Amino acid sequence: MHLAVIGCGYVGLVTGACLAEAGHDVICTDVDAGRIEQLRAGHVPIYELYLDKILDSARKAGKLSYTSDAGEAIRNSDAIFICVGTPPKEDGDADLSAIDNVARQIATEARSPKLVIEKSTVPARTGLELRRALTAYSRSSGLSFRVASNPEFLREGTAVFDFFHPDRIVVGVEDESSARDLREIYRPILDRSFRCPVHQGTCPPADAVPLVVTTINSAELIKHASNSFLALKISYANVIADLCERIGADVEEVTRAMGLDQRIGAQFLRAGLGFGGFCFPKDLQAFVHLAGTVGVDFEILKAAERVNKQRIERFFDKVRQALWVIKGKRVAVLGLAFKANTDDIRFSPALEVVKELIRQGAQVQASDPEAIARTKALFPQASYHTDAYEVLRDAEAALVCTEWDVFRELDWERAGKLMARRLVIDGRNLYSPARMRELGFEYYCFGRE
Ligand code: UDX
Repeated sequence: MHLAVIGCGYVGLVTGACLAEAGHDVICTDVDAGRIEQLRAGHVPIYELYLDKILDSARKAGKLSYTSDAGEAIRNSDAIFICVGTPPKEDGDADLSAIDNVARQIATEARSPKLVIEKSTVPARTGLELRRALTAYSRSSGLSFRVASNPEFLREGTAVFDFFHPDRIVVGVEDESSARDLREIYRPILDRSFRCPVHQGTCPPADAVPLVVTTINSAELIKHASNSFLALKISYANVIADLCERIGADVEEVTRAMGLDQRIGAQFLRAGLGFGGFCFPKDLQAFVHLAGTVGVDFEILKAAERVNKQRIERFFDKVRQALWVIKGKRVAVLGLAFKANTDDIRFSPALEVVKELIRQGAQVQASDPEAIARTKALFPQASYHTDAYEVLRDAEAALVCTEWDVFRELDWERAGKLMARRLVIDGRNLYSPARMRELGFEYYCFGRE
């Protein structure tokens, strides 16, 4: 099929690249002409595993192209994926002005009917507004548009893998023909006839992927309800960690056993500095806001948000307990990205840590495999090195903020010889407390003794 992707951010680029890889003809567009130029020159503006490879191979195969002319993308496609930003406003509500702009462009630039698919995360009932906007803006042409919702569940860092191996594909539609078109778009993934770029054609066999066909309102709600539930799960694990500390239990033992119960599941029970990133915090806020607008007080989500905000304070309780005075101390920060395998620092708990350390007068030396450039622009007063051992040199404490494998696999015997003091405050529970103590470290973590 001929597909247009409007918005070349994380969601749009991954969606466009993967749909082209799955055999469709994709044209990507963005209001940022500079970004389109970069992409045309082969420069991928975000770090995402395998993304550069599939963008490159899809372009070479003639399946993917870029244009800064949205009209061109719209006119040359049967279906259009809207992947523009929906950032939070002051009150937590989502700013949908970019979606409104795209609706206007589609309505005025199209010369034939289109299937318009919301991919960006939006509050429930946005599809209804989108339909109204398309109808209003296309009054002179009289064209009719079908609207659908197809929320993404891609995790940054594993987005390409997630696209080809989804737990489910959700499509919210108004009619059977839209469901048919979306089934056709995703057919290579549903019947597993694609060549997965991650496994190079050697994908492990998997169960058939369910295509969940719902109303548009339900599809939109599924996205917010899923992300908020995962955030809730993390906050729950974090409160269990606090409880473990008071009682003298081990949160890793507790959550491991909890996760073996299939009704609970093992994922998203990792205690630590809490969740960050551009999705969870904003989706939680938007969902609470949406519930409020229809008179539902989503008290448990507010609590999950509160618990998450307190994680940084809980971490600094440990830092103060360990270091006493922070001012003037040389502190190594391991990890800046909001999680491993991404260069994304938006709403990263690690940045909150860096900010607070600087505010309190520490000398911060930070390491991250991918996120240094972005962080340096915000905190030029800190020093940076991609090599973790370099930032540990002469440090009086190491603060672990992101769960990168390079930090998990650090040789602490070697690091201990470089550090001025053997002190690790681990915000991601990466190491065995017993092993760290054996190596002569004072070791602080969450919910374990
Ligand atoms: C999330 C959703 O998982 C994805 O489905 C959605 O489409 C976009 O938002 P992402 O923001 O990439 O994806 O990150 P994710 O891997 O879900 O992690 C979110 C945050 O939670 C990270 O800061 C991570 O460190 C934290 N986290 C995750 C925990 O603190 N504990 C856990 O057990 C799991």
